[in-house]
Amino acid sequence: MAEKKLSRWDLQKMKDSRKKVVWITAYDYWTASFAEKAGMDMILVGDSLGMCVYGYDGTVPVTMDQCIYHSEAVRRGAAGTFVVGDMPFLSYQVSIEKAVENAGRFHKEAGVDAIKLEGGKRVCPQIRAISDGGMLVMGHIGLTPQSSGQLGGFKAQGRTAEAAKELIDDAKAIQEAGAFALLVEAVPPEVCGKIRDTLAIPVYSIGAGEQADGQLMISSDVAGVFQAFTPKFVKKYENLAEKTINAFSEYKDDVVNGRFPEDKHTYKMVEGELDKLNQLLK
Ligand code: KIV
Repeated sequence: MAEKKLSRWDLQKMKDSRKKVVWITAYDYWTASFAEKAGMDMILVGDSLGMCVYGYDGTVPVTMDQCIYHSEAVRRGAAGTFVVGDMPFLSYQVSIEKAVENAGRFHKEAGVDAIKLEGGKRVCPQIRAISDGGMLVMGHIGLTPQSSGQLGGFKAQGRTAEAAKELIDDAKAIQEAGAFALLVEAVPPEVCGKIRDTLAIPVYSIGAGEQADGQLMISSDVAGVFQAFTPKFVKKYENLAEKTINAFSEYKDDVVNGRFPEDKHTYKMVEGELDKLNQLLK
């Protein structure tokens, strides 16, 4: 378990003292508890759960209710870790009122410590309103999966000077609107480095290089569970998919060949009760 749940000020101090923040996604109780035991600084209940848990081919179908259920489970699994809830598609774009209400649901129903939402200048009114509502907001720019249609797919962003300048302007506007931190996804390291140096708030990377104040990775990628595709920025530290399939196959093989269950896996009847049962059944 983490020694003490970090606060936004601890995260800010870590940036100021150039101590890296390491965080990971989790969508359920057990992954969250493993993340906490591994000493993660933060956990994101990402809308990537659409792909990693529900098997959708993107994040767009994910609903607010799904995010709340999964965040509740994560909160129970990692009571001592800073948890960020990810606002799903259409939970904040439709209106400022809806954005504040849904951010509030994350806090009231799932007990998260902060919420994250995607987009640059165009979501700054929402960031301002949620922040004015007393909640911590993290911005998310670069590759923003909820608008992958507009971006022309799941593609790296900010690769030209003009696009990079646009991202830096978005980052400044997000900080100005009251965000406590920013996540930058799939952007060249130099661009993320410039954003990091420009902003006073912490800037985290997923696929945006090592110059950021910390790194986020998707738990299903780190553990080698997710098999549909592997982005360039992913490092798999395990191959749990293969290990799990092997375990399931061995289990099947054992049953089919009479090796499971063994005596040690069964319950014993109370002494003398089997004879009585046989009498009753006569
Ligand atoms: O949903 C998520 O896990 C995310 C990451 C891809 C940054 O937002």
